[in-house]
Amino acid sequence: MRAVVTGGAGFIGSHLVDRLVGDGHAVVVIDSLVRGSTANLSGALDSGRCELIEYDITDPRVRELMASSSPDVVYHLAAQIDVRSSVADPVHDARVNVVGAVAVLDAACRAGVGQFVLASSVAIYGVTPTLPVTESAPTEPLSPYAASKLAGEIYLNQAARLHGMPGTVLCFGNVYGPRQDANGEAGVVAIFADALLRGRSTRVFGDGGNVRDYVYVTDVVDAFVMAGSRPGDGNRFNIGTGVGTSDLALHTAVAEAVGAQQVPEFVPARPGDLRAMTLDATAAVQRLGWSPRTGLDDGLARTVAWARRRVALEGRV
Ligand SMILES: NC(=O)c1ccc[n+]([C@@H]2O[C@H](COP(=O)([O-])OP(=O)(O)OC[C@H]3O[C@@H](n4cnc5c(N)ncnc54)[C@H](O)[C@@H]3O)[C@@H](O)[C@H]2O)c1
Repeated sequence: MRAVVTGGAGFIGSHLVDRLVGDGHAVVVIDSLVRGSTANLSGALDSGRCELIEYDITDPRVRELMASSSPDVVYHLAAQIDVRSSVADPVHDARVNVVGAVAVLDAACRAGVGQFVLASSVAIYGVTPTLPVTESAPTEPLSPYAASKLAGEIYLNQAARLHGMPGTVLCFGNVYGPRQDANGEAGVVAIFADALLRGRSTRVFGDGGNVRDYVYVTDVVDAFVMAGSRPGDGNRFNIGTGVGTSDLALHTAVAEAVGAQQVPEFVPARPGDLRAMTLDATAAVQRLGWSPRTGLDDGLARTVAWARRRVALEGRV
């Protein structure tokens, strides 16, 4: 099988590329490296089955590249992922997440791609009265990022109707694991692990009671592979564990995995932060055959082990 992975040099994308290459597939990665890195792809590039094309997804050459690669599946992950950046610069966010998604979709339609899998986010749901949230819940984007991710879904649905493009949307909770950027705004596991390993202070917002659904990156890769191997009909599947973990409980769990005694500093709640979000993945279980395989303790142990190696390599501990 031939696959195109946009954003394949990033956190989730590079794990997906590793899996596809490991399964013997040929992969073309399209990534501007604005956040991702070639280091994330070192194993895949060494395999000889992965090629990295350093294009912005809005680059007109993406269309020719898609035609010449003639992929069976396109996994679209490239995105501006920072909620606060999207508030500060909604035009840039829309350029990447809306115009970029449309450009990749258009190129895929013209190339007659067999399956298109789009990475979306739980942010599209906003405040929901019932948790865990199901796919039939109304969407209520509360940030430009949420709006732009939802727009990508709408364009995918439109392409399915207009061009018969088979597509699937995967809607993730809070994904964590090795290679997540500790310097970003998202990725609280990476942020806590990095700070605790370096003996730096950590912060939680408000009373530490905000609840999120943490899903391990290789479980997310399972979902991509399952979605990519079946004809999609434009449907969205929630990908989460259904288990809620508060910020404070997460801090305690990461500190335990690190072996640190530290307690976090409590800082004022951020306006606009959701109080709680968990995902009902029943549809993914029933229709994709997906289920989360990695418990939080196991996933945190693996993530902290990776972060420890990285910090040690930097020679700071
Ligand atoms: N990490 C999470 O918890 C989470 C949760 C829900 C949804 N998602 C979605 O999953 C996808 C991957 O997220 P991630 O956490 O791996 O983020 P990431 O920032 O690590 O990866 C995104 C990749 O896209 C690339 N990119 C960004 N803008 C680009 C552009 N204009 N042209 C080409 N490449 C570009 C970056 O260089 C990076 O390698 C995103 O679509 C994100 O919205 C992530």
